[in-house]
Order: sequence, then C-alpha cells, then structure tokens
Amino acid sequence: MKKVLIMSSSLRNNSNSSSLANEFMKGVQEAGHEVKMIQLQDKEIKYCIGCLSCQKTHRCVIRDDMKEINDLIKESDVVAFATPIYFYEVSGQLKTLLDRTNPLFPIEYKFRDVYVLATAADEENEWIKRSLNAIDGWVECFDKAKIKEKIIGVNAGITDSDNITNNMETLKKVFETGKLV
Ligand SMILES: Cc1cc2nc3c(=O)[nH]c(=O)nc-3n(C[C@H](O)[C@H](O)[C@H](O)COP(=O)(O)O)c2cc1C
Repeated sequence: MKKVLIMSSSLRNNSNSSSLANEFMKGVQEAGHEVKMIQLQDKEIKYCIGCLSCQKTHRCVIRDDMKEINDLIKESDVVAFATPIYFYEVSGQLKTLLDRTNPLFPIEYKFRDVYVLATAADEENEWIKRSLNAIDGWVECFDKAKIKEKIIGVNAGITDSDNITNNMETLKKVFETGKLV
C-alpha cells in the first residue's frame, strides 16, 4: 500500500482541476492505497522570502500551513498536483507552494512518483504542452523523483467552474491513472 498526497490548487469551488483531483483520488482509493487530499483554498501559504536558512536548519522561518504540507510531502510515496493553467503556467498559488518546499531539498524524502493534473480553457496546442514547466523544474531539483504522468484537461471553459465534468474521456483517464499509482 502506498501513501498518496494530492494537492489541489484552484481557489474556486467545484473547480475543473479539483474535479480531476477528485477522480484521481477515487482511482487511488479503489486500488486500496492510502490517500490524503489538500485543498489550497483552506491553507495559508506565504511567499518564500529566499533567506535559505532552511538549507541549514531544515525548517522554514515562516509560520504558516507549509510546515504541515512539507511533512506530508516528505512522508508520501506519491505526490499529485492539480492546477488550473494561468497564462500558460501552473497557478501562482501552486508555484508558491513549490517554492516553499525548499526545506525538503537538503534532506531525505520518500516521494518518487509525481502526477500532474491540469485544466485549461484552450484546446491542445504547443503552448499548453509547455505550461507545466514549473513542475518539470521542481522534479529536476528533487532528483530521486520523476514525473509519472501529466494529464491536461483542455477545452475546460473559462467561466463555468465545472465544465470538465462533461469531459468523460479525461475524467476516466484520470481515474484509471489513479488506479495504477
Ligand atoms: C488568470 C487566468 C489565466 C488563465 N490563463 C489561461 C491560459 O493561459 N490558457 C488557457 O488555456 N486557459 C487559461 N485560463 C483558463 C483556466 O485555465 C481554465 O478555466 C481552468 O479550467 C480553470 O481551472 P479551475 O476551474 O480548476 O480553477 C486562465 C484563467 C485565469 C483565471
């Protein structure tokens, strides 16, 4: 049994990317693994101030919810990030979370497989394919980890927050991916 942590970063209720996160969670649960979902909506995560003291002390000087999140990331076998695409990148709130994982950089961590679930209003194109660069860079730095799968739900709409629920093909793909973690 694996420990799986899903971090869903949209700040909208019933959002497209959180629908993918939920479907992934159902797949993971069906396969019998332990799963925890974190909604960034409920968390306070301040910007990294770049002091780098964490590289010596292994803890952050900022007191907010990142301590709890870093403890969970460190002890998970699998981590998954769900994000809306904003200006052809991950959401700012997810990028802030990634920056704040810096206390984990100099220490032993358990996670190996990384999954990315994203939604975008646009159709599949060259820009969409490049829009997860921040996570690619993060995995490059945590060199025991690798990207297992990236799923981008395209044509997910702009105003309606649950358009992706009409895209059964993407939801099924995410569910099946969750079953195979
Ligand atoms: C600030 C902002 C920037 C966006 N930039 C893009 C973009 O570059 N490309 C795109 O296809 N969709 C873009 N979108 C649309 C969202 O990616 C899309 O609606 C997504 O499904 C929202 O996910 P959510 O419902 O999980 O928040 C943008 C939306 C916002 C609010």
